[in-house]
Amino acid sequence: MFQTISILAFLAILIGIVIHWIAFPVRAEGRGDVGRGAVHILTLLLIEQRASLLGALKKLCYLVALVCFLILGFTGFYPLLVRGEHISGYLMMIHATFAPIFALCLAILALTWASRHRFERTDCPCLQRLLRRVTRLRLPEPQGACQCTLAAQKVAFWAVVTLSLPLILSILLSMFHLFGTDWQELLLATHRWTAVAFAVAVVLLTYLTVRLRIVE
Ligand code: HEM
Repeated sequence: MFQTISILAFLAILIGIVIHWIAFPVRAEGRGDVGRGAVHILTLLLIEQRASLLGALKKLCYLVALVCFLILGFTGFYPLLVRGEHISGYLMMIHATFAPIFALCLAILALTWASRHRFERTDCPCLQRLLRRVTRLRLPEPQGACQCTLAAQKVAFWAVVTLSLPLILSILLSMFHLFGTDWQELLLATHRWTAVAFAVAVVLLTYLTVRLRIVE
């Protein structure tokens, strides 16, 4: 069951992103054709020359977190989804090696990006209009166009931060012999299932961030 649901979840998010990209193509000045857009996406991974030291360190931290995430995702899911067995051996060692680096980068990014991802009333005028229509809340008439991508990016960011807690705590708690075998298995299952939701949220956050950066 875990195999089927994980594969369906990953397929759904990837197909959803492709359909969204085709249905709502990103329009950015001077980057009309796809080729130039793709190059621009790649440059988003580079550290800008004009970046401040703090900006460069944050970007480096993001890149290290992204590489760790890809390694953790591969070492964790490949044995389960492809070979139908649990993580072990070298893959386990690689997973356990990159996990603390990932946890540290994630903590730094959560702290330094939190204020930029705080929700503002102007994020989603359509939600505000809906709330004005269906509730008695005295909300002002929203101005300006809807920025659903920005609102969705903020939701994805806080989903990643929130899901990282059970993802990491489940494994940390399983390392203490306080709990019996049943609890150990429950904690590992929590890590496994949270990892699926976490991976989907990270893919969505990365996609929405790239979209927002292209139009900047
Ligand atoms: C700081 C973060 C992390 C730590 C400390 C960690 C630690 C571990 C450990 C110790 C195991 C082996 C459990 C066992 O079978 O004994 C494991 C398994 C696993 N991890 Fe992680 N991990 C982390 C992050 C991640 C991330 C980010 C993902 C996915 C994107 C992930 C996906 C998995 C998967 C799928 C398994 C396999 C579970 C199984 O075979 O039953 N982990 N992790």
